[in-house]
Amino acid sequence: MSEKVYILGIESSCDDTAAAVLCNNVVLSNVIAGQKIHEAYGGVVPELASRAHQQHIVPVVEAALKQAGIKKSELNAIAFTQGPGLLGSLLVGASFAKGMAKGLGIPALGIHHMQGHILAHFIDDANEQSPDFPFLALTISGGHTQIVQVDNYFEMTILGETIDDAIGEAFDKSGKLLHLGYPAGPEMDRRAKLGNPNAFQFTKPKVDGLNFSFSGLKTAILHFIQKETKVNPNFIDQNINDICASIQNTIVEIVMDKLEIATRETGIKHIAIGGGVSANSGIREAIKSGEARFGWTTYLPKFEYTTDNAAMIGICGYLKLITGTADSDQLEVSARLKF
Ligand code: KG4
Ligand code: ZN
Repeated sequence: MSEKVYILGIESSCDDTAAAVLCNNVVLSNVIAGQKIHEAYGGVVPELASRAHQQHIVPVVEAALKQAGIKKSELNAIAFTQGPGLLGSLLVGASFAKGMAKGLGIPALGIHHMQGHILAHFIDDANEQSPDFPFLALTISGGHTQIVQVDNYFEMTILGETIDDAIGEAFDKSGKLLHLGYPAGPEMDRRAKLGNPNAFQFTKPKVDGLNFSFSGLKTAILHFIQKETKVNPNFIDQNINDICASIQNTIVEIVMDKLEIATRETGIKHIAIGGGVSANSGIREAIKSGEARFGWTTYLPKFEYTTDNAAMIGICGYLKLITGTADSDQLEVSARLKF
């Protein structure tokens, strides 16, 4: 293999069509086309998502190559998201990647989306420093909530995960009750900064071990809003920042409780976070505060590598190539792909 490896990464697991070009572990371009169409429905509509991916994939890949200043013929491999995700959306990116790789006579590399969120930490400029093995990865997104023990690039064990809603759904569904639009996470975060986190109390779910549960919290918030708006129809408008701050504070406490147990049980104090919800300022601050409180070393990715992107898929492709772990026979997409 030449010293410089050029990888095209393609991500299409949900509602973002993304392409990135990497030279080894350095990102040369990172292009994302979102899909505004879902906002009107308050959630991702799978049929519309795959149709939009079909429209975006060619221009997004062309833009990524152009911004990187790389010709197709210079690529050494194409990495694509194999799962988990929406089947129709995954199929668009995977078919495109496999067809293009075949045409160029280079390998196509299937990548696990959540491993992408974790291994984004090994992108050259994602952090000041990459995590040391072993570390604990907290992967928090619209579809997942997991604590993963990472012993090596592709040696990962899920220690705990949500038994119902993902943490991003806790933000998005409670935000919907507050009329914050979709997805509500970023707006909830913005408003939380302006409010009092102790204004309202919500009961935290009791789930054993390292698993999470968020559906009870959503129901508790629904009942709270119903009760308060019966007394005061303007309750939401008058208290929106305090409500957001209190919800976010409850979610932060749930996460911190589990991380404390995980570090105690494993003795691992290196913590890396990933996934769309790792952009949340409350979660970032709380985890960072663990350095002084519990002696943790924390790794918080740059914002552009938190929500879905293709640079994280490209870095996994690069790491697969250099570790010799690419499997060219296992390239079928799967909505429920396991590690
Ligand atoms: O990783 P991601 O882009 O897509 C999935 O794989 O799900 O995550 C999207 C999720 C959404 O639920 C969105 O509301 C949430 O990440 N999110 C946030 C913030 N930014 C994005 N949640 C809370 N605070 C944020 N700042
Ligand atoms: Zn994601």
